[in-house]
Amino acid sequence: MSQPASAQRLSRVQQPVIPVMGELISQTPGTLSLGQGMVSWGPPDQVRSAAAAALADPGASLDRYGPVAGNPELRHALKQWLQKEHQLDLSCSELLITAGSNMAFNALVQVLCDPGDELILPVPYYFNHEMAIRLAGGIPIAVHAGVIPDPQQLAAAITPRTRAIVTISPNNPSGAVLPREVLEAINRLCADHGLLHISDEAYALFGYGSSAMWSPGSAAGSGAHTVTLGSLSKSHGMAGWRIGWAVVPPALMADLAKVQDTILIHPPHLNQRAALAALEAGGDWCRQRIATLLPRRQQVLKALQRANAPWQLACQPDGAFYALLQLQSSLSSDQAMERLIREHQVALVSCSSFGLESCWLRLSYGMLAEADLAEALKRLMGGLEQLALG
Ligand SMILES: Cc1ncc(COP(=O)(O)O)c(C=O)c1O
Repeated sequence: MSQPASAQRLSRVQQPVIPVMGELISQTPGTLSLGQGMVSWGPPDQVRSAAAAALADPGASLDRYGPVAGNPELRHALKQWLQKEHQLDLSCSELLITAGSNMAFNALVQVLCDPGDELILPVPYYFNHEMAIRLAGGIPIAVHAGVIPDPQQLAAAITPRTRAIVTISPNNPSGAVLPREVLEAINRLCADHGLLHISDEAYALFGYGSSAMWSPGSAAGSGAHTVTLGSLSKSHGMAGWRIGWAVVPPALMADLAKVQDTILIHPPHLNQRAALAALEAGGDWCRQRIATLLPRRQQVLKALQRANAPWQLACQPDGAFYALLQLQSSLSSDQAMERLIREHQVALVSCSSFGLESCWLRLSYGMLAEADLAEALKRLMGGLEQLALG
């Protein structure tokens, strides 16, 4: 008897790399992870008390369906947050609250893509962007335009089927903070060609270097062709609470609501209560915690800046909590990830899933405290030296 089969397009969707790495780690007890992109802190205290209070209050309306785009209280607070902390111009934009910003991106590509429509992804891209586009029947156009993408190279990739250009700043996986003039040029390109500029700002508050983070959605009037994606996952240590958002041109809102209504109906009430409490803790709460990453970043940079090392950094990692390195080795990224875990008990993420060929690995310093980080880096240095040999 023939078996039910998945649709053909699923065969073109990559295997998510984080669970693959997680499985290798669970098979290798004692592994220290510089892999998954999470922070070590949890949410502000008031998040748990707000959630507990909502659970204890029979009048809290947790049990019934709510507004598709999110509850009015959270929408109001989030708009204020986006204006104050991210300087967004919301005068011609709408806000959709979702279960994490991955869901916002997914909803967006569902709305943008007819089969064969294209979205331009500068390499390295974020793997879930590429996956979501394929799931929607679209075509991700991976453009090798440099770690700081050259707008002219992106312009050369535009075709009649192009719907959007996606940027990520601060960047996953490179940690690069894209200069304002580059983002402005990409934003202009999108306006001129009738495209959307989708700016993924999951790490918006995470900057350490001299180049300040700039949001394309802060330019006056850019709301008509700009989408800003954001999330509480990193800044507030709330990855598991699944609250994110998209700031979108109003013209897309009715169709986005169709997708949201079909997939989620609305973000869970309890999590929205928690998110409201998280925003009330204020931006300084986040900045104080993000500042604790500074010495860890220094620790990583110091370890990696070794003379005659068989690896090199893609760029100065001035944002997020990543560093992207290329190892001189005949191994593939996937092989290097596996061997680092199995033979050296240290995990980095393979970057084939980010669209990079040859041996690229992403290091995340968001999770480990100083002593564990020192040990992980020691293992990594030894591991990389060995892998470089073959
Ligand atoms: C660039 C980028 N965008 C989006 C996400 C997903 O965030 P969320 O938890 O809000 O879905 C991540 C998570 O690692 C990310 O790195």
